[in-house]
Amino acid sequence: MSLLEVCKVSVEYKTWNSKIEALNDVSFSLSHNEILGILGESGSGKSTLALTIMKALPKNAKVRNGKIIYKDKDLLNLSESMLNSIRWKEISIVPQNSMNSLSPVHKIGDQLYDILKLHNPSIEKKEALEIIKEKLTISNLGENIVDKYPHQLSGGMRQRVLIATSLLCEPKIILADEPTTGLDVVTQYQILKELKELQDKIKFSMIIISHDISVIVNISQRVLVMYNGQVVEEGKTQSILEEPMHPYTKALFEVQLMVGRIKKEDLKIVEKQDNKIQNFENFSGCVFYFRCPFATQRCKNENPRLTKVKNEHSVACFLYG
Ligand SMILES: Nc1ncnc2c1ncn2[C@@H]1O[C@H](COP(=O)(O)OP(=O)(O)O)[C@@H](O)[C@H]1O
Ligand code: SF4
Ligand SMILES: [Mg+2]
Repeated sequence: MSLLEVCKVSVEYKTWNSKIEALNDVSFSLSHNEILGILGESGSGKSTLALTIMKALPKNAKVRNGKIIYKDKDLLNLSESMLNSIRWKEISIVPQNSMNSLSPVHKIGDQLYDILKLHNPSIEKKEALEIIKEKLTISNLGENIVDKYPHQLSGGMRQRVLIATSLLCEPKIILADEPTTGLDVVTQYQILKELKELQDKIKFSMIIISHDISVIVNISQRVLVMYNGQVVEEGKTQSILEEPMHPYTKALFEVQLMVGRIKKEDLKIVEKQDNKIQNFENFSGCVFYFRCPFATQRCKNENPRLTKVKNEHSVACFLYG
């Protein structure tokens, strides 16, 4: 049985002169102790998805439709007080930018204490400090970090502080939004390894979001590929690695992994000018239509559904099935 069920979620942003459809009918599930990777280039809606699950979207965003079911409740319909009992305690997030997420003028220990106290108002200072030191230690940081300011730490250490923060209330689900972006490659892999070890040890489910295939395939058991607010491919990591199907996934793999098994024709996709669809109300075709070298008239008129092509591997493209 799934732990989290995202059903047909659509989200739009309004700006002063336009409407941007950031998510369009996104559905997927997350199982207990599963690591699900969400892969897609910048602007594909990955962070919007994480913020929708946390119900932390900015004011100009609107959830047009959909449900997010967690423990038989639709998170999208919960009151603020009910949500506060779920955020951090049940579902927490490791945000991308450690500099923006940590206060530069407060010591790490004080920042973690404030978060813990907010969610456990009755906690004693001594007990809180023990929890904070334990979470820092399992995140591969020394206890002395509590007395440091963010600027005294390296990028990798700050990111580990954010991981420790996400673990403070022992959540069931962690959303890690580009948790290693901006770090050097060695630190990136160390942190991914540590995250995996943590997940093995203390058991939680994780959604890891990245634009980088190597990050996603390194750690996740299953992958969703997103393009322009839609899921275009979904499958076990091994299956997607062995046989990427969607023309967009193939192009991503070709560019990022430099594998030689993809036809030249597929590469034309990345050369095509990026012409994204901003408003789905005026376009009913495939989300990848404007970049796809295989597009036909049908692709212009109809949007393919995500369809199972082989065991636990689905793709939204008329070239299949
Ligand atoms: N606060 C916002 N206001 C308007 N548009 C936004 C806002 N945040 C994101 N968007 C737009 O929504 C789309 C999805 O963005 P985002 O979820 O940040 O993608 P990703 O995390 O995959 O880079 C993009 O077109 C982006 O420009
Ligand atoms: S449905 Fe058509 S346009 Fe969309 S990815 Fe497949 S071939 Fe390309
Ligand atoms: Mg993002």
